[in-house]
Amino acid sequence: MKQLKKLKTGDGSFTFVSEEFGETYHSVSGAEEEAIKKYAEPTNIVELAKKGTVRILDFCFGIGYNSAAAIDAALAVNPDCKIRIVGLELDESLSEKLKELSPKFKSYEIIKNIKNNNYKNENIHISLVFGDAKQTIQDISEEFDICFFDAFSPKTQPDMWSEEVFKDVCAKLKVGGLLATYSCATHVRINLVRAGFDVKDGPCIGRRAPSTIATKLF
Ligand SMILES: C[S@@+](CC[C@H](N)C(=O)[O-])C[C@H]1O[C@@H](n2cnc3c(N)ncnc32)[C@H](O)[C@@H]1O
Repeated sequence: MKQLKKLKTGDGSFTFVSEEFGETYHSVSGAEEEAIKKYAEPTNIVELAKKGTVRILDFCFGIGYNSAAAIDAALAVNPDCKIRIVGLELDESLSEKLKELSPKFKSYEIIKNIKNNNYKNENIHISLVFGDAKQTIQDISEEFDICFFDAFSPKTQPDMWSEEVFKDVCAKLKVGGLLATYSCATHVRINLVRAGFDVKDGPCIGRRAPSTIATKLF
């Protein structure tokens, strides 16, 4: 199992620190807060849920905080909402490690109950696909409303933030679909635009710089 240290963040919730990548899984200012404010809230989940369906590509699923925040947000406005999540992730050992965590998300029990890379009930269907997301995304043949893009930083993983990867993500989104990411780096935004997105500032949470919300144009 990879070495992961538990770390308490500014909002009292815990995240992990990856020794391999030398980075935390979430913002140290608040792990739960980041999942809610930078991913679940600015991606139209409430509006989609009211209409009945939310489809999310969780690019770098990690310990599932972003997905859990999204499920909570959708079920809060429509308990009968159909939710489809495909999570792309490299590290299979996380499925065991996340059992050490008890974030406040009501739906975290669902994340903990993903068995054999799948969870399915009447309304919620989650599939995890393990491997290098740059490759595994090629085999995804579904369309999504939203992508949560949450790789380690562009400095640490420059290959994840390329125009080519964003083109592959863009191809999986419906027109008008949204990509949310914590990074606002200029070259990241340039690559998003080259891949077919319009970009704007997302919320500033926990640090001065904003996150990024990108919309698939056509
Ligand atoms: C910042 S964390 C993601 C946190 C996650 N979104 C959450 O809410 O818990 C980055 C994740 O990317 C994964 N990762 C790193 N390289 C990857 C790759 N090439 N393909 C897929 N996942 C990768 C890491 O294992 C880690 O779980």
